[in-house]
Amino acid sequence: MGKYVIEGGRRLAGEVAIHGAKNSVLPILAATLLVGECTIHNCPNLSDVDAAFNILRHLGCTASRDGDTVSVSARTLADCTIPDELMRGMRSSVIFLGAILARCGKARISMPGGCELGRRPINLHILALEKMGVTIEEDHGYLNCTVEKGLRGAEIPLLLPSVGATENILLAACMAKGKTVVHNSAREPEIVDLVNFLQGAGANIHIDKNGTITVNGVAALHGTEHTVIPDRIAAATYLCCAAITGGEVLLRGAMPQHMTSVFPVLKEAGCTLRHSAGNIFLSAQRRPRPLSDVQTMPYPGFPTDALSPAMALASVARGTSYFRETIFENRYKMVAELSKMGAKVKIDGRMAVIEGVSRLHSAPLCCTDLRGGAALCCAALAAEGESYIADIHHIERGYQDFDKNLRSLGAIIDRC
Ligand code: UD1
Repeated sequence: MGKYVIEGGRRLAGEVAIHGAKNSVLPILAATLLVGECTIHNCPNLSDVDAAFNILRHLGCTASRDGDTVSVSARTLADCTIPDELMRGMRSSVIFLGAILARCGKARISMPGGCELGRRPINLHILALEKMGVTIEEDHGYLNCTVEKGLRGAEIPLLLPSVGATENILLAACMAKGKTVVHNSAREPEIVDLVNFLQGAGANIHIDKNGTITVNGVAALHGTEHTVIPDRIAAATYLCCAAITGGEVLLRGAMPQHMTSVFPVLKEAGCTLRHSAGNIFLSAQRRPRPLSDVQTMPYPGFPTDALSPAMALASVARGTSYFRETIFENRYKMVAELSKMGAKVKIDGRMAVIEGVSRLHSAPLCCTDLRGGAALCCAALAAEGESYIADIHHIERGYQDFDKNLRSLGAIIDRC
């Protein structure tokens, strides 16, 4: 298990190129099952992406990488079962379900368990697929799914705008018989990216202004080439890392239009932001100002995945900051670790109140989850002394070259 050693107190300055979005490429890799040959550009090199490749290969597909370009062929698909060890390799492996069903008419996957963010129910996925003609039975921790008469379009009002459920429905609907309408669908940029990929492969999908998605099933999809959008959460994390050190950073290859809810929070912290097509520039003062009310919401609201880095930033603010997490029940797991550095955080249910301290100190730390782990690194960059951050496999699920990028900005960070 790798760990980072970070010597804090260095002001970061420089440029970082933002890699492709993890949350886009994972459903797109699942979508390749519906398509013959695909070429995907800007595919980040992450352990979650490797886990998706393992699933594709287990199913009989071929997947190869040349730099950040990936080629997948699903012509040779031969299996419709994902064993437990592969399901566990990636939190969001359930997004393969809709695509396997569309391709094979049946699927057997192990029941996804909880994760470090709390329970991860899939009731909305199941309800939607049942509406589309899928019979689902639980059998010793596995879900046995069958489609008797082919997938059929359906009217699906989602109780919550679930990202994963919206993706599963899209994948099941592209080649279903008739029209599928998803009300209250998720509207994240990663959903739009998946839709763009599917449209490039010949799918008939329309998203209206209210976020209702209509899919008219087509007989078949064809091979396509696609470039994944930049990772807005990685971008937000690097902005927080620069901000907490009173530094400045230029992000290249980012999409500022996906980050309109993040910018006001960084501005409130006292950062200056400028952006143009593909570039975001942040410059920070020595110590952040407190954040009055950061509330996570589905897109276009403040992203739950950017909450932990923003909390790290607030831990050294000149005053008290307030946070409310509305999406996941266990987003605050990293707080115990942050407190070891001297952060003053009080949790009350979904609320977190952080009284900024003038200085954090180093500590031996352990990543509890992907974004929480990145947030601990962010805090360690501003802490006095040398921090050891263990269990960085969490971070490597979602950040490519995290230590290398921070080093290029002037951070003292080693991976050992
Ligand atoms: C995706 C992202 C994750 C992000 C999250 C919210 C990927 C790979 N992951 O996760 O990084 O934090 O969106 O933006 O894209 N829920 C149910 N029943 C369901 C499905 C979801 O109750 O059937 C609940 C979840 O427990 C959670 C909330 O809805 O509390 C949001 O979940 P969802 O939008 O589905 O997140 P994911 O797709 O798992």
